[in-house]
Amino acid sequence: MKASLEALGAEIQAALAGCRTDDDLERLRVEYLGRKGRLTEIMRGVGALPPEERPVIGELANQLKRHVDQRIVVLREHWESERRARALTNEKIDVTLPGRTLPRGHSHPLTTVLDEAIGILVGLGFSVYEGPHIEDEHHNFTALNIPADHPARDMHDTFFVDQSHVLRTHTSPVQIRVMENQEPPIAAIVPGPVYRHEVESVKNSAMFHQIEGFLVDRRVTFGDLKGVLALFVQRMFGDDTRVRFRPSFFPFTEPSAEVDISCVICRGARQLPTGEPCRVCKSTGWLEILGSGLIHPEVFRAVGYDPEAVSGFAFGMGVERMAMLKYGITDIRLFYQNDHRFLRQF
Ligand code: DAH
Repeated sequence: MKASLEALGAEIQAALAGCRTDDDLERLRVEYLGRKGRLTEIMRGVGALPPEERPVIGELANQLKRHVDQRIVVLREHWESERRARALTNEKIDVTLPGRTLPRGHSHPLTTVLDEAIGILVGLGFSVYEGPHIEDEHHNFTALNIPADHPARDMHDTFFVDQSHVLRTHTSPVQIRVMENQEPPIAAIVPGPVYRHEVESVKNSAMFHQIEGFLVDRRVTFGDLKGVLALFVQRMFGDDTRVRFRPSFFPFTEPSAEVDISCVICRGARQLPTGEPCRVCKSTGWLEILGSGLIHPEVFRAVGYDPEAVSGFAFGMGVERMAMLKYGITDIRLFYQNDHRFLRQF
């Protein structure tokens, strides 16, 4: 018995020496020390041995089992630490290497100008509203005192969606929507895209952006309009910017005025410091930037306000136009082509 136990010990030693992986070790453990393992069977049989052999064989078998258990643990730990050491050298990261810098994005120039204009007007107490881009004729025209068959409709080349719906030709219909839903006092601005059936060119695009503004309260005067717009253009184009109001016509305002600012390029001098004529203002010293006026009594009637009790002013401006003036851009189509050589400059 002792001899066969020693033979088994030698066999196990040899098997251990041949183990390369955790799986090999596990197979070995099951074969010798598992429930039906060969060493286990021997240990189970110790009780049946003659009494004088029992302690010797029992002790030898226990020693062998302890030895094998230990070797398994030691080998496992040894391999594990080898694996870690390998990973540490192979997967080394140099945290001091400089990173790869990605180019930084920025706002589109139209967004920048839009945000700036909105920021100024919100600072003056106006709240931002939006309205649908597909608008009914009533809001886009009729309620703004532009009746069907009235020649004023010719001012807008309109995209019709169906018999009674259009792509809004201006942001003014949102005046109607806001007033229909609340009572004065109101101070609102409406930024957003508008659509005109135009041949695209250096000056015209079928889609462009406007900011509408209007204020309704008691005893609002043309002086209030002038004060607000003068402040606005000074913040937008610089403190030395002057404004000029020229009589004009819009169906939804009376009186109406076109607003000019002193030229942002020649600062009103009509020529450049070099003596060359200023091409941006065509040597007039002035640039037209928006339409405005006092809200027409018919517009108040259309929303159920009493024109004897309330008054208000309104204005509408083109965002592309302001961006072109601010940045000296001469072709409106550049805003929509997403040419990075253009956009990178802002
Ligand atoms: N809605 C006009 C347009 O698109 C612009 C405009 C002019 C708006 C005068 C106004 C205004 O609110 O008072 O041509």
